[in-house]
Amino acid sequence: MSHVRAFHSTVDAVAREKKYLQSVEAPPLGSTRDFVRKNIDNDFTHLVAVDGDAVVGWCDILPHSAAVRRHIGVLGIGVLQTYRGHGLGRALLSRALADVSTQRFAKIELRVRASNTAACHLYRSMGFQVEGTLRDDIRVNGVSDSTYCMALFPDGAAA
Ligand SMILES: CC(C)(COP(=O)(O)OP(=O)(O)OC[C@H]1O[C@@H](n2cnc3c(N)ncnc32)[C@H](O)[C@@H]1OP(=O)(O)O)[C@@H](O)C(=O)NCCC(=O)NCCS
Repeated sequence: MSHVRAFHSTVDAVAREKKYLQSVEAPPLGSTRDFVRKNIDNDFTHLVAVDGDAVVGWCDILPHSAAVRRHIGVLGIGVLQTYRGHGLGRALLSRALADVSTQRFAKIELRVRASNTAACHLYRSMGFQVEGTLRDDIRVNGVSDSTYCMALFPDGAAA
């Protein structure tokens, strides 16, 4: 829990870039605290990369909230802008996928903006495939973007 404030600050910085996440700012600090507490208490996969006191990246794979989708892990990842392009994102994702808590999921899914070439490249290189495209799914400052729904089946095949 000691990194909650720094984690919140990093999520907020990435969200405020408005180019990558589903939100344009972090949730309130209190919600983030509850989110992290729940992940720790349930032993969910939620990794952070730290540099001194700063959280410079994160990766979480959490059970889907719907009761009929608990076999699905939902992936979130981000690296602080100045730390990108040095292998941190790939390292975080690899570690998260290898985590024992993640391994119980039959499917790992995520949503990524079509314009997010770095993330799309990373996901494809780790075995994720596009399951569908949500067209004109996001508009930021009047600019439209599509969203790819991507998934990885750790056992290699869909049911
Ligand atoms: C996506 C993200 C987590 C990747 O983290 P990173 O530390 O920069 O990634 P890495 O340095 O580990 O590089 C991963 C791969 O992406 C590639 N890559 C990096 N930038 C790229 C770009 N602009 N275009 C294409 N590929 C790119 C790297 O070359 C590397 O592939 P390689 O190993 O085949 O050479 C990071 O860019 C990020 O935080 N982006 C903003 C938040 C975000 O997009 N989150 C995901 C939302 S779905």
